[in-house]
Amino acid sequence: MQRPTLNSKHPAPYFLGLDSLFKIKSDPLNYYQSLKDKYGDAVRVQLGPHRCWFLFHPEHIEQVLAKQADKFIRFERIMNILRQWNGNSLLVVEGDSWKKRRRKILPAFKQSRMPDYARMVAAQSNVLVDQLEKHTDTNCELDGIMAQHALDVAGVTLFSKTFSSQSEEISKAVYGLSEIAYRETTSPFLLPTSISMRINKRKREVVQLMRTTISDIVKQRLESEGNKHLDLLSILIEHHEKDAEQIEDDVMSLLIAGHETSGAMLSWLFLLLAQHPDILKKVHNELDSIIGNDLPTFENIKNLTCLSAVVNETLRLYPAAYALFCRQATTDIKIGEVSIKKGDLVQLLPYITHRDERWFNNADKFLPERFLGEASWPQYAYFPFGAGPRICIGQSFGMMEVMITAVCVLKKLTLAPSEEQFISMHPRFSLRPTMGSKVIFCKREIKAG
Ligand code: HEM
Repeated sequence: MQRPTLNSKHPAPYFLGLDSLFKIKSDPLNYYQSLKDKYGDAVRVQLGPHRCWFLFHPEHIEQVLAKQADKFIRFERIMNILRQWNGNSLLVVEGDSWKKRRRKILPAFKQSRMPDYARMVAAQSNVLVDQLEKHTDTNCELDGIMAQHALDVAGVTLFSKTFSSQSEEISKAVYGLSEIAYRETTSPFLLPTSISMRINKRKREVVQLMRTTISDIVKQRLESEGNKHLDLLSILIEHHEKDAEQIEDDVMSLLIAGHETSGAMLSWLFLLLAQHPDILKKVHNELDSIIGNDLPTFENIKNLTCLSAVVNETLRLYPAAYALFCRQATTDIKIGEVSIKKGDLVQLLPYITHRDERWFNNADKFLPERFLGEASWPQYAYFPFGAGPRICIGQSFGMMEVMITAVCVLKKLTLAPSEEQFISMHPRFSLRPTMGSKVIFCKREIKAG
């Protein structure tokens, strides 16, 4: 592996580092890329009152996420913002509380649970297909549809029901929260009172809507006789010993962490396939010969090597978690040659490292075949689900959800490019396509293999 390129020069702070915060707020992806292009693999930037390191090299990423993970916590300011709606959930807790929490939630994501979840995802994906079939041959706005589908999937797998009539409202609410939270985390100033009052009012309404909905579902289940469901909630109830507050916090964070990311991933997947008809054809051929008229299951999707490569490549180019949660060093620490001081922030960016030509040839091109053989890149050059102890707990679930949804949709439909189709990114808490990114779904003949 090529050694990290280190530069003794770092960007000079202007206006007490507020200039960098404004750049992150207005055009984060280009700003991060320009830091790496100008200053190399480890860049020190003043962000308001904080000194922040942007680390782009796989060796450094491994140190922060795995080898020296215990020397970092997630940056308190961002966690406090997330706490407003996630409560003290797995996402935000640290140390022993995090360990205990993770142990209690892990059984819900055991491999042996996946076949049941896969059946639920397939049933919900067929509802999506019915909906898409009613709108074939016309421009289809992807982001909203996929976000709602992912929310319905989260609903059925978490607590065996969709939000039905509230589905659109809740998916818009989560979108709104993500916007507000992003604004709060990147805002150096308190906003003028009139604006902040309006935003706070909206935030309170959205958090209230979500918490009441979830709290009602959890209460009903706790009061009902027996616990005979196959969903995630039944496992959380068992392992949280019926502690309603903990259960609600974790349901909320699984709902938010799970549905925004997988919704975004599905949107990118269909957008990319619509732009690459040759690759779409290969995926269709594979589905016809391996799945045919069968339902996709947790077992048979493992044979879909072409689709799986397409999904992995989508995650490389458009990682929903384009920036990991910012970390803060709890002690002075050496990361390779880089000396990080206690209190410094560290930011890792899958979006930038995934597009580094040193690890991926033609890094900006959509080339799923790179995932067909042995990986030719260093392990920590590709980390769409994070790594180390705090790796995404829903990784297998998320991959299964995206694969099953894609199979159900592509078995019945094909994609045609929309004249209005464009790929434009909307980086907020997750990397979603801009509202208005469109494709056209068309009916197709199924050829059983
Ligand atoms: C499908 C696309 C998904 C992507 C790209 C994704 C990505 C990530 C990443 C990168 C992290 C680590 C963040 C960091 O270290 O800063 C993470 C953590 C997490 N993810 Fe996911 N995720 C996905 C799906 C899901 C699903 C489906 C669920 C739950 C149903 C989920 C629940 C979580 C939780 C609870 C954490 C925090 C784990 C901890 O701190 O111990 N994710 N995810």
